Amino acid sequence: MREEAAQGGGEARIASQHKQGKYTARERIDMLLDEGSFEEFDMFVTHRNTNFGMDKKHYLSDGVITGHGTIDGRVVYLYSQDFTVFGGSLSESYAKKICKIMDQAMLVGAPLIGINDSGGARIQEGVNSLAGYAEIFQRNIMASGVIPQISAIFGPCAGGAVYSPALTDFVIMSNQTSNMFVTGPKVTKTVTGEEISTEDLGGANVHSSKSGVSHFRADDEDEGIMIIRKMIEYLPQNNLEDPIQTVCDDPIDRIEDSLNEIIPENPNQPYDMMDVIYSLVDNQEFLESQRRWAKNIITGFAKFNGMPTGIVANQPNYLAGVLDINASRKAARFVRFCDAFNIPILTLVDVPGFLPGSIQEHNGIIAHGAKLLFAYGEATVPKVTITLRKSYGGAHDVMSSKQLRGDFNYAWPTAEIAVMGAKGAVEVLEGKKMASMTQEEAAKFMEEKEKEYTDLFANPYEAARYGYIDDVIEPRNTRFRVIRAFRTLATKKQVNPPKKHGNIPL
Ligand code: HXC
Repeated sequence: MREEAAQGGGEARIASQHKQGKYTARERIDMLLDEGSFEEFDMFVTHRNTNFGMDKKHYLSDGVITGHGTIDGRVVYLYSQDFTVFGGSLSESYAKKICKIMDQAMLVGAPLIGINDSGGARIQEGVNSLAGYAEIFQRNIMASGVIPQISAIFGPCAGGAVYSPALTDFVIMSNQTSNMFVTGPKVTKTVTGEEISTEDLGGANVHSSKSGVSHFRADDEDEGIMIIRKMIEYLPQNNLEDPIQTVCDDPIDRIEDSLNEIIPENPNQPYDMMDVIYSLVDNQEFLESQRRWAKNIITGFAKFNGMPTGIVANQPNYLAGVLDINASRKAARFVRFCDAFNIPILTLVDVPGFLPGSIQEHNGIIAHGAKLLFAYGEATVPKVTITLRKSYGGAHDVMSSKQLRGDFNYAWPTAEIAVMGAKGAVEVLEGKKMASMTQEEAAKFMEEKEKEYTDLFANPYEAARYGYIDDVIEPRNTRFRVIRAFRTLATKKQVNPPKKHGNIPL
């Protein structure tokens, strides 16, 4: 029976899977887990459906492989949908198998990994299939913030089935071989008249750059599996444990002279925040989440002295690092994930403010920006903030400021912390006076006032004078200061008031 189960839907269907550049459900498990660590549950389960001649078609495992194993010695629970059996579609028995390992992952307190490759609800099973999905959704919701949940999409993931991955913490899609949509191209055409391909509607490119549904677009399944293994390294087993500190062979007091020169003379000139991140973190290793979406903010995991840390950083190289709707959503979700799983947060600030304009306002930048504010304000993990250059207006408050319980707030000497940029400030303060001047007089006056404002506010010392910045540090020493700050904060304890849950402006 084991041999029969290993064959899934049979040789022809396995060959078809391979022809499409896809691995089988069992091959994926073998690649993901430590060798020999997989223990399968429910290999002998079959469906109970008798409609449409299904009483004569049974496959051992019923289209999903479930169980537990280890990644770098750490226990994980997982399921892997088998497209070779009824298109990986979900039956009542299949859902029960997934629920069983979800329940046990919660009991044990171990991460859950779901590998998706399925035609959705098993049509022959009707409402039993819908109920099965809802059972999984409910468990995804209860597990949220308790155990890390990671979804890989390595094939179709259609209809309501998309909501299980969407409820999990991270979604990884393989390029060209995966897709996700609530309604597919055919129904889209019937209902709206729009003609669109599967790839353009819900391929990995779309979800990693346009919708933000996917956190990682892997070139292929091999890379997707490597990303999952890497991610586990940064995460604790559950919300009651800390992430695991590993031995660090990168000197903690490494001086990075290049950082003293990285901020351009001209404040309007961009630079690449990734250069700053790579020069600060251990061994230049950074696992960036949502790299292709909302590129004006960077989110991802790295280590400092071997301790996993979440990094949120404005990216001056893209839209000047402005905060807009998508950047706020992206960073807010990341901050909440880190907070839920005891991962300290480093925030690197260079933000000119919120993006102005009717598109942003009419689409709710007020509510979306408030998400990031809320996320930082409720987070109780150690929070270290470095202001590299600009930190203007509401965006200053939002980006892990002192008043949002930032623990260590440092600034580089190049920091500019103020209500708004000099030009805007002078226009508001002196606009009426300038209106009565000739054009030449106004230009000269403007220049003088801008200089006055810049001299007064475009520096870190005004904020430091009030204690909003704890210290102004030399850029090249930043790695050491960050590591020492997190080491000091390792025993931080902070508890929010008891409540059922807050009401984050969703
Ligand atoms: C039962 C299914 C199935 C399904 C595929 N199969 N989807 N069987 N229920 N949902 C079977 C096929 O009959 C076929 O069986 C085998 O799986 C492979 O499918 P193919 O169509 O040959 O493969 P391919 O051409 O690669 O196309 C894959 C596909 C397509 C795009 C996924 O199969 C498809 O569109 N399926 C239906 C998708 C769908 O509408 N699902 C319901 C969504 S609603 P044989 O025996 O011929 O090999 C939903 C609600 C969830 O999921 C609600 C949650 C709240």
